[in-house]
Amino acid sequence: MIKVSVLGLKNPLILSPLAEITIPPFRRICAEFGALTISEMTYAKGLLYNDPKSIRRISRSESEKKFGIQLLTNCPSDLGEAVELIEKNNWSDFIELNLGCPKPKITNADLGAKLLIPKNRKRLTELLEIGASTSKLPFSIKIRLGYEKLSLFEVIDLAETADIAFITLHARLATENYLNPAKWEYWRKAVENTSLPIIANGDIKSYNQATEVISEYGVKGAAIGRFARGNPQIFQKESKIPSLEIYDKLISYMRNSPYFNLFNLRVQSADFLKHFRYAAGARKQILSMSNREEIIEHTRKKLAGFQEEKNKKI
Ligand SMILES: Cc1cc2nc3c(=O)[nH]c(=O)nc-3n(C[C@H](O)[C@H](O)[C@H](O)COP(=O)(O)O)c2cc1C
Repeated sequence: MIKVSVLGLKNPLILSPLAEITIPPFRRICAEFGALTISEMTYAKGLLYNDPKSIRRISRSESEKKFGIQLLTNCPSDLGEAVELIEKNNWSDFIELNLGCPKPKITNADLGAKLLIPKNRKRLTELLEIGASTSKLPFSIKIRLGYEKLSLFEVIDLAETADIAFITLHARLATENYLNPAKWEYWRKAVENTSLPIIANGDIKSYNQATEVISEYGVKGAAIGRFARGNPQIFQKESKIPSLEIYDKLISYMRNSPYFNLFNLRVQSADFLKHFRYAAGARKQILSMSNREEIIEHTRKKLAGFQEEKNKKI
C-alpha cells in the first residue's frame, strides 16, 4: 500500500527524541510551537513492569496533539505486549521502535542500532512483523544507515514487507559520530527505494532548512534533535518570541512536574543560554549552583541581558 503522509499530517516537523533532554515539559513547549512529539527511548520491559520512571517518561500533555512512544527492545513478545498495553491505555497515537541508538550500554545488549547488523536480521524481521501487526496504532521505526556497514536497503525491504507506517532515517552509520556530517543523499536514495514515507533526520539546523530538505529530498517530514535544545521556537516559521518568555513557560511546566530537579534544571537552563554569544561562562556557572531558584534567577537575568543587547543592536 502506498502511504503518502505521516499520521495524516502534511510534512510534519518532529522533535527527535533526546534521552534526558526532551523531557515531557520540554516536549510540551515544542508541541505548542507545532512539533509532533515522541517520547525518549523507553524500555518495553519498563512499561510492562510499571516502572514509575518509564511511565513518567511517556506522560503526554494536552498540547501534544500527535504523540508517539519510542520503545527499546529486542524481544518480539515484549514488543507485542508493550504495544498492546500502550493501545489499551490510549497512551499514544503511534509507537516507534528504536533501531538507531549507538551507545555501548545499549548496543552491547543487542538493542538499538545493533539490531541493524546482518546477524540480527531474523530477529529484526520478527520485531517489525509483531510491531506492525499487533496494534491498530501506526508503528514506525527510527534507523541509521546501518551499524558499521550500510544496511539501509535491506532494512527498508523488511519494513515494506511488515507494512511499517513510516521510517525516520538518521543519515549516519551508528559507528559514526557527530563530527562526520550526516549523509543527506541517503534520504533521496531511501525515498527512491520505497513507497513508505521517509522522515529526514541528522544535522537539520533551522525551520527553513527543514522545509528545504522536505522539498528537495522528497521526504515526508523532518526530525530535529540537537538544534531544538533551548530553542523550541525552531518548529515555527520566524518565531520572534524572546527566549526569556519561553524559558519562563518551560520553568512553569517543570514546576508542576516530577522533572523539577537540579539535573533537569541545569540541562535545560544551560541549553537556553547556549544560543547567545559569550554565554560560555554563564553556562559553566550553572554547574556550580545547587539551588534550583538560584539557577532560574541566574538564567533569567542572563537571558534578559542578552535580549537587551540584541534589542540595542536592532
Ligand atoms: C543526548 C542525545 C540523546 C539521544 N536520545 C535518543 C533517543 O532517546 N532516541 C532516539 O531515537 N534518538 C536519540 N538520539 C538521536 C537523536 O534523536 C537524533 O537522531 C540525532 O541527534 C541526529 O539528529 P540531530 O542532528 O537533529 O540532532 C539522541 C541524541 C543525543 C545527542
